[in-house]
Amino acid sequence: KNPLVAFGAGKVILLGEHSVVYGYPAIAGPLSIGVVARGVPSRSCVLDVPVTADAAQKRMMRKAFARAARLVGEPKVKVTLEPQLPLSAGLGSSAALAVATSRVLLQAAGQAPTPKETARLAWEMEQEFHGTPSGVDHTTSAEEKLILYRRVQAPSGATGRARELKSPRPVSVVVALAGARSPTKLTVGALRERQARWPERYKRLFGQVGRLVTDAAKAVEAGDLEGLGDAMNVNQGLLNALGLSSPALEDMVFRLRSMGALGAKFTGAGGDGGAVIGLFSEPEPVVARLTRDGVRCFASQLAGPRAQGDIP
Ligand code: PMV
Repeated sequence: KNPLVAFGAGKVILLGEHSVVYGYPAIAGPLSIGVVARGVPSRSCVLDVPVTADAAQKRMMRKAFARAARLVGEPKVKVTLEPQLPLSAGLGSSAALAVATSRVLLQAAGQAPTPKETARLAWEMEQEFHGTPSGVDHTTSAEEKLILYRRVQAPSGATGRARELKSPRPVSVVVALAGARSPTKLTVGALRERQARWPERYKRLFGQVGRLVTDAAKAVEAGDLEGLGDAMNVNQGLLNALGLSSPALEDMVFRLRSMGALGAKFTGAGGDGGAVIGLFSEPEPVVARLTRDGVRCFASQLAGPRAQGDIP
């Protein structure tokens, strides 16, 4: 029998991280790289953890795997993981891992790995990794589309509502890594304390981000990349106002803008460092130049028509 193979895409949040935790909308899209999971018949249901993971990550992966495996009746399969993404870089590696693993487990259990079933099982794993995240990561990975996402607690177990955003023009970003990243728990926790102390002030800022996201969704659907880029720039200003940025992130944001980005901001948790995205109509020369200068980066198309011969 052929081995089971499944892919879970990494993600970037285009706009709306952090405020998404408080019920405001966000836009997120899948990366072309992620995590590949392979399943081979085995005497029990086991996970072969990646060698690149540290001890704490391995423990968490085993716990998350056991939780998902129990829910599908522990099919006799050994799952191996191949991460193509840097772990803990704010690019959704844990959600990608959860989605790829869930797809293999569902197939091994004789169930169809539909986006809905995949997202449901991946969510169980994500809770082991993150506690209670907004759900935007695993939903984007399971849907594999650019989505407008809003957190809601549904009786079905779904964590949020997602609607695909189609673009008549390619929406492509350069993802650049800037410095060491802060743990998501830390930045989310610190923001929670500030907003609990000054609720009205922070609510106003979250509301502003929410409106930008709505504007940006319209811009995507109209193919208005300039409008989308401007919304991203203003979102970065508000993320800074929320106390989530740092010199390393700001430097990279301004660097990408000086290279012609239509918009640039950090993506994900923020804090001391992490991933920064720039919206470019021609990302390849930017990646080449940054790479020459020693910046770890890559390009990814999140939505829109693809050039012929492109790998989706
Ligand atoms: O950096 P990441 O991928 O962990 O992104 C976190 C995104 C937040 O909005 C900050 C948290 C969440 O649960 O959505």
